[in-house]
Amino acid sequence: MSTHRVKIYAGFERLWHWLQALFIITLMVTGFEIHGSYSLFGYETAVRIHNIVAWAFIILIVFAIFWHITTGAWRQYMPTGDRSIVTQGRYYAFGIFKGEEHPYRKTELAKLNPLQKTTYLGFKILIVPVMVTTGLLYMFYNSWSDLWPGGLAWVAIIHAFGAFFLVIFLVVHVYMTSTGETPLSNVTAMVTGYEDIEDAPEEEPATV
Ligand code: HEM
Repeated sequence: MSTHRVKIYAGFERLWHWLQALFIITLMVTGFEIHGSYSLFGYETAVRIHNIVAWAFIILIVFAIFWHITTGAWRQYMPTGDRSIVTQGRYYAFGIFKGEEHPYRKTELAKLNPLQKTTYLGFKILIVPVMVTTGLLYMFYNSWSDLWPGGLAWVAIIHAFGAFFLVIFLVVHVYMTSTGETPLSNVTAMVTGYEDIEDAPEEEPATV
């Protein structure tokens, strides 16, 4: 089957993706040191790096929200409301190992499959806000500790729980990047912005 080169990711989208990856991994590495899991930079330095990168992450989130709203890219994440997510889940659990075709074809207007839509929407409207909110509460504990003296324990537990969740997300996410047309095609697209997409049957040149 023939393919054509398609621009999938805009420049800002790629910059946002890789900066977000860098920030989250740095927050993860320093966060688990603060948690006491290992010693790498030293506690004080780990806290300082965690605080600086947290602010950089928040600034990036503000730009990303602005970009999603102004370009209309937020629509990419809206669920379709049919059973398509089940089809996609079945494909990753069984079909992919039997060499079946991908159930959905990426296009310029619909780059996310139904399972990605739901996962990334959850990431954006649940995990990231929970991490930012609990992180800021942690940072400004002195301003509200009188209101809820035992509150920090809850904030720490939720923040650390979210961090564990993000580790799982990262492992699955990196595995998923290898499930495109070729093992590297998804990562290449996120670097260059372009991907070779299979032509739709109706786009096949007519043979005489
Ligand atoms: C904007 C986002 C974030 C803010 C404002 C923030 C802020 C903080 C603060 C202030 C602390 C406490 C440091 C101290 O004890 O002095 C902390 C701890 C921690 N952070 Fe974050 N953080 C953010 C995002 C993240 C992310 C994305 C992760 C991991 C993926 C993460 C993982 C952790 C972990 C594991 C701890 C230790 C929790 C504990 O056991 O007490 N943080 N964070």
